[in-house]
Amino acid sequence: MAKSLKTIALRGTAAAFVAVAGVSAQAAEITYVSGATGAAIENFAALVKPWEEATGHTVTIVPMPSSTTDQFGQYRLWLAAGNGDIDLYQTDVIWAPQLAEHFVDLREAAGDLVNEHFPSIIESQTVDGKLVALPIFTDAPALYYRKDLLEKHGASVPTTWEELTATAQMVQDAERAAGNSEIFGFVWQGNSYEGLTCNALEWLKSSGGGQIVEADGSISVNNANAAAALELAASWAGTISPEGVLSYQEEEARGVWQTGNAVFMRNWPYAYSLGNGADSAVAGLFDVAPLPSGQGHGVSAATLGGWNVAVSKYSDDQEAAISLAVYLAGAEAQKARALNESNLPTIMSLYDDADIAAQQPIIPRWKDVFLAAVPRPSAPTRQDYNEVSTLFFSAVHSVLSKEANAADALADLEADLQDLLDK
Ligand code: GLC
Repeated sequence: MAKSLKTIALRGTAAAFVAVAGVSAQAAEITYVSGATGAAIENFAALVKPWEEATGHTVTIVPMPSSTTDQFGQYRLWLAAGNGDIDLYQTDVIWAPQLAEHFVDLREAAGDLVNEHFPSIIESQTVDGKLVALPIFTDAPALYYRKDLLEKHGASVPTTWEELTATAQMVQDAERAAGNSEIFGFVWQGNSYEGLTCNALEWLKSSGGGQIVEADGSISVNNANAAAALELAASWAGTISPEGVLSYQEEEARGVWQTGNAVFMRNWPYAYSLGNGADSAVAGLFDVAPLPSGQGHGVSAATLGGWNVAVSKYSDDQEAAISLAVYLAGAEAQKARALNESNLPTIMSLYDDADIAAQQPIIPRWKDVFLAAVPRPSAPTRQDYNEVSTLFFSAVHSVLSKEANAADALADLEADLQDLLDK
């Protein structure tokens, strides 16, 4: 059996599983938990079908809330309790250090497949030499913009946050004056959750305000550039963005955008294929650009996201679960995900794939964006990352909702981070 598993590992394609299909002692019923964002859940059955047919095993997906913060809270409870009902977890790129002890080391099973992935992504899922999860897609956000509306109003794609603010306001005002009463300038993710950490990290980093906690562990968040970036963002809710943006996650922003009611949107690549879908009011009317930078700083910053698959140590069907993880991380499944969901592959060669380039042109265009993306400080803060992020997004939310000014909120945040990290 161990030998067969290695065969599987070599390619991670459904065809590779055929060789061992007859070897399985018994068909396993595998349970996979994943957050429900975009069309991932509805596409999952088709995605795993080749693996099910090749192995005789079946997979049930358990959909979780879209918020990665909520998923993390639930998974941590299940794992701490040694829950044996769930075989595989779809895991956020930031979780590896905090959940490592509960997952199986996938390095041996993955074999040569590891070398097909970008080394930095494999590195992000490696904790003390253990490969905690296998990457299934990476993520780096874009500024989505309406080509038709910018052209109509003689505006160009903004390259600074200040330009974005002005252009969003100008187009919103002109459209409303012309009777388009539902339109807003800019939608993004302002809810108090991990997605706000991503948005706000982008504002700070692109404005010379650092990345909260730097790679060497120093706390950098309390600085004037960061405060100025937050103050600008705090001017958006109720002007160029709906008041309700302070409770938006990815899907709420996409909902407004896809009904044609936003000029700009900050979102991840999954919104690209959905925005061009048959039921989208903006199909063919938009394009994507790198996120703006702060005036005078000239550096766009995209937060590095991404998802992986991890096998629970408490699973009763570890062998089948590992083979599914290898399949999902392999080229066949990643290509399907790229074509259907415009998720960015973690397999290097897929950036040269002609089908992907033709069907989802954002993917080859976004290779350099994700390679330059800014990581959240999960590596330097390890076990404390979730708490660091919670303190950060809570402080940011208090500024956006005008409960605190940015300078005070960042000074308090710095003190809280010191208490947490300088133990
Ligand atoms: C995307 C990213 C993920 C991030 C999340 C925040 O799903 O891939 O890394 O944590 O958005 O909402």
